[in-house]
Amino acid sequence: MSNTDKVFAGSIPKIYDDYLVPMIFSVYAEDLARRVAARSPAALLEIAAGTGAVTRAVAAALPRGIRYVVTDLNEPMLAVAAQRQADDDRIIWRQADAMALPFGDAEFDVVCCQFGAMFFPDRAKAYGGIKRVLKGDGTFVFNVWDRIEDNVVTHEATNALAKLFPDDPPRFMVRTPHGYHDKSIIRADLERAGFRDIAIETRSEISRAPSAEYVALALCQGTPLRSEIEARDASKLQAATDLVAEAIRARHGSGAVEDKIQAIVIEARP
Ligand SMILES: C[S@@+](CC[C@H](N)C(=O)[O-])C[C@H]1O[C@@H](n2cnc3c(N)ncnc32)[C@H](O)[C@@H]1O
Repeated sequence: MSNTDKVFAGSIPKIYDDYLVPMIFSVYAEDLARRVAARSPAALLEIAAGTGAVTRAVAAALPRGIRYVVTDLNEPMLAVAAQRQADDDRIIWRQADAMALPFGDAEFDVVCCQFGAMFFPDRAKAYGGIKRVLKGDGTFVFNVWDRIEDNVVTHEATNALAKLFPDDPPRFMVRTPHGYHDKSIIRADLERAGFRDIAIETRSEISRAPSAEYVALALCQGTPLRSEIEARDASKLQAATDLVAEAIRARHGSGAVEDKIQAIVIEARP
């Protein structure tokens, strides 16, 4: 993983929340919220909560009186999440690294994490920390993106950018968000951390955006791909965004863009 892969700051959090969340994250947030609510947790921890896509869905699904600790490595992401969330005395916002969770043993009934595990430098170690803060009968519910070929617009965008930077194509999307999808590796990492009851499933959905320009802005400017483009040539960010829009338009036309996205959803118990 490159150093900039985990940095969601500057202009990224707002564009991420305004564009990327409705396009590809909300639909999976609803799925995680259903799984969390099915466990009726009294104490819930969310890791890598970002701008709060899951937090909003979970808060709407859970009753009063619970304790819901919402964390992320990047404070600017959590600031957008807190701003978007109505006042809610169940929620505690806290900056926290998944690699060093600042919580006591067996504090939580459920730990949830949407599209965060791919960013953890050592997944088995992170899962060990999650198991430590879970109660003995608790559940870790999380998802990761499947391979990039099953996530159509992101794949098309990555291919288009390779033409603009042929000597050093930006590989953020392949390397990190779509770089951890082998079910046997995910299972082995969980087992190394002490999880025993592990259910893993593939879940396909549809990404929806009003136009090719929207897709390009979401992916090129609302993710750390932005930093990767700027590291090559900061003056080319808009040209790169326009090139991706053109490639998406060529495949999907000038109207709304809908195509396949795919993730892997995991429920694990000690
Ligand atoms: C793709 S976003 C997902 C955000 C959110 N869960 C959602 O569904 O929109 C990945 C998130 O992981 C966070 N992240 C990266 N490394 C992390 C770490 N070591 N510990 C906690 N969060 C981390 C980033 O700040 C970012 O908000």
